[in-house]
Amino acid sequence: MLAPATTLFTGIGQLVTNDPAFAASAGVERLGIVDHAAMLVVDGVVQWAGAASSLPVADAAALAVSDADVVDLAGAAVIPGFVDSHTHLVFGGDRAAEFEARMSGQAYSAGGIRSTVAATRAATDAELTARLDTFVAELHAQGTTTFEIKSGYGLTVDDEARLLAIARRVTEDTTFLGAHVVPAEFAADPDAYVDLVVGEMLDACAPHARWIDTFCETGAFTPEQSRRILKAGAARGLGVRLHASQLAPGAGIRLAVDLDAASVDHCTYLTDDDIVALAGSSTVATLLPGVEFSTRQPYPDARRLIDAGVTVALASDCNPGSSFTSSMPFCIAVAVRDMGMTPAEAVWSATAGGAAALRRTDVGHLAPGARADFVALRAPGYVHLAYRPGVPLAAGVWRAGARLA
Ligand code: NIG
Ligand code: FE
Repeated sequence: MLAPATTLFTGIGQLVTNDPAFAASAGVERLGIVDHAAMLVVDGVVQWAGAASSLPVADAAALAVSDADVVDLAGAAVIPGFVDSHTHLVFGGDRAAEFEARMSGQAYSAGGIRSTVAATRAATDAELTARLDTFVAELHAQGTTTFEIKSGYGLTVDDEARLLAIARRVTEDTTFLGAHVVPAEFAADPDAYVDLVVGEMLDACAPHARWIDTFCETGAFTPEQSRRILKAGAARGLGVRLHASQLAPGAGIRLAVDLDAASVDHCTYLTDDDIVALAGSSTVATLLPGVEFSTRQPYPDARRLIDAGVTVALASDCNPGSSFTSSMPFCIAVAVRDMGMTPAEAVWSATAGGAAALRRTDVGHLAPGARADFVALRAPGYVHLAYRPGVPLAAGVWRAGARLA
């Protein structure tokens, strides 16, 4: 049997654990901060994390005899790797012209999705794969160690299945989003498209997916169509997530809560009843600051959600239409500046919050038993993620104890 691979990370100036053993339920304490910390990683899993002065003697002794690898992080702050629970990274083309027109006053509409569908259908698997690999490198370099990817730019049985198969190469959190928008060829009969989504398309896509999602919004799918699609996915064993209330308030939030969705995403326009429903549920509200930034819409009110007791996640929604950023630090900075979040809340939501939105207990925190996914920041503390917007602060990124960037 091979000896376990053991690494001791020392010299951590500030360690954000998100570990309930160190953390209170709210405020900065929620981050479970340990100063002057060390972390012991065995076979890619955190075995111990805490104040360097209290590293258990038995572990220290074992290290001395096993000649363990020791990495001195020279005073850096360390946070859990970002968990980006909402992306659309498999697509062809871009929509820079649409963005430019928006910045001259044109409104965002769900219809723009169709232009990416045309470019994606025309792209080969090799082209889509190469581009995805570039995005993955971009995510890693910025500290994202877990990410979800949705289909939704194919909208035929074969195209949706191939987008999911391509995404599956790089993440287990793949989401079938055949119900992204009604494709042009079904414009006259949207319900016939819904029949296809819940029938042959779901059959072809379910083996490549962990989740099902629907865009429940005027111009995309009605609440009734969305319910039908999500229930069909759930019956096939897929977890439920939903895009809702991006462009206007609607019935999507209540639908998500009703179906015990892991997450409802966007939440830009919420009624008081929506907030009460979310607060009484285990559905995470995932906010996507890049969307409001790139569409010049009002930002969602994270403060209102958090004060009501709702679990909030932050994600990039990286896609060529509404939010072409893959940067979680950017999302944190905007959420702090414009959505009423404190830096501690934003960092928690971009790590532990994302993990909750994906119903994952192995990532988003640095407690014994967690996968050793973490970012060493070129900064003395986590606040710098919001305090130094636009500055690349990820000095080193590890996943399962192995260096990624
Ligand atoms: O999450 N809202 C629906 N889907 C994407 C937008 C995709 C696009 O415009 O291409 C979103 O914002
Ligand atoms: Fe999206």
